[in-house]
Amino acid sequence: LFSKIKWFIAWFGGNHPKAEYANINWDELRFSLTPTDYMYVMNCFKEENFSKGFLAPFGSIELSPSSGVLNYGQGLIEGLKAYRKENDQGILLFRPELNALRMKMGADRMCMPSPTIEQFVNAVKETVIANKRWIPPPGKGALYVRPLLMGTGPSLGVAPAPEYTFLAYSSPVGKYFKVPMNLLVEDNLFRAVPGGTGGIKSITNYSPIYKAMSKAKTKGFSDILFLDAATGKNIEEASASNIFLVKGNSIITPAANGTILPGITRKSIIEMAMNFGYQVEESPVSLEEMLGAEEVFCTGTAMVVNSVASITYRNKRMEYKTGEETVAEKLYAMLTGVQTGRIEDKMGWTVEI
Ligand code: COI
Repeated sequence: LFSKIKWFIAWFGGNHPKAEYANINWDELRFSLTPTDYMYVMNCFKEENFSKGFLAPFGSIELSPSSGVLNYGQGLIEGLKAYRKENDQGILLFRPELNALRMKMGADRMCMPSPTIEQFVNAVKETVIANKRWIPPPGKGALYVRPLLMGTGPSLGVAPAPEYTFLAYSSPVGKYFKVPMNLLVEDNLFRAVPGGTGGIKSITNYSPIYKAMSKAKTKGFSDILFLDAATGKNIEEASASNIFLVKGNSIITPAANGTILPGITRKSIIEMAMNFGYQVEESPVSLEEMLGAEEVFCTGTAMVVNSVASITYRNKRMEYKTGEETVAEKLYAMLTGVQTGRIEDKMGWTVEI
C-alpha cells in the first residue's frame, strides 16, 4: 500500500516516472545525492567472472555484517558523468572505457574479480537510460554515475571475500565548487604512500582524509593539498582532484607514479593542452615550484576544471590568477564543450547513448 501511495503522490506531483524530466529544481543542483529510480547490479563468486547483471529499483542493499567491504574496506569506486547534448537530442558519456580500465586495475590490486570493459560500459549505459529523467537539462549539470565494486561475501579472517558485487547508481549533480579554491597544504597527515593504494580508486583512500579536510574547512579553506609521504617536499593532489601549474607556455602536473590518482579528466586535460600547443610536463612538483606559478587549477570528474585562487603553506600564502582569461577557463570551456556535444569531438572521446 505504501508504495502505491508513493506512486500516486509522484504521479499527481508531476513526478511521473515516464516524464522526460523529473520534477525537481534543476537550478539548485549541487554535488550531493538526489536518489534516482534504478541501480544496476551484478554479482559473482571469487573464482568466477561477472556474468549477467540486472536493473533494480534504487534502494538499500543487504550486506553480511562480516562482508569484506564493511570489515576490511575491500571496495572500489568510480565516477563518470552523462550529459544531455546541447540541443537535448541525445546523451553523451565521456571516455567510459577509461573508468572501466581503472576499475580493472584497482580490482587487481585489491584481489577482486572485475567486470570486463564491455560489461562496465554496458552497466553505465543501462543505468543512465533507466534514469534518463534525472539527467539535468542542457547547461544545468550532469547525471553522475557512481559504479562500486565490493567484496560482499562474509570473511572474518583477513582475506579476499568469497563473493563480489558490482553496482552502479546515479544522481543528478551541479557544480562541485562554485568559486575558485583556496587550498591549505597539509604537512602532517598523508593521503598515499609508495606501494599503497593512492593510484587506484580504493574506498579506503577517502575517509582517512576527512580529519585534514575538516581542519582546513574550519579555518575557511575550501580544500587541502597533500604532500608526498616519502619526502614531504612535493605536492601530490587535493582531497578529490588532481592539480596543475601554469608557467608561461608550460603546464606541469605531478607524475601519476602510484601515489596519485590517474584522473580521466587529468589525462584529457593533458592531451587537450598539448593540442592547444602547451608544453605539458608530468614530473615531481616541489613546493618551491608552486611559488613561481602564474596559475594553478585542479581537475576531476566531479569538479571538471577549477581555478585555485590561493595556496597556503604554514604561514605563507601564495595567490594565483583566476577569471575569464585563465588557461583553466579555456580548458574548461573546451572540455565541457566536447562533453556536451557543443564542440566537435575530434578525439573520439564521447559515447552517444
Ligand atoms: C570524481 O571526481 O568523480 C571523484 O571521484 C571525486 C570524489 C567525488 C570522490
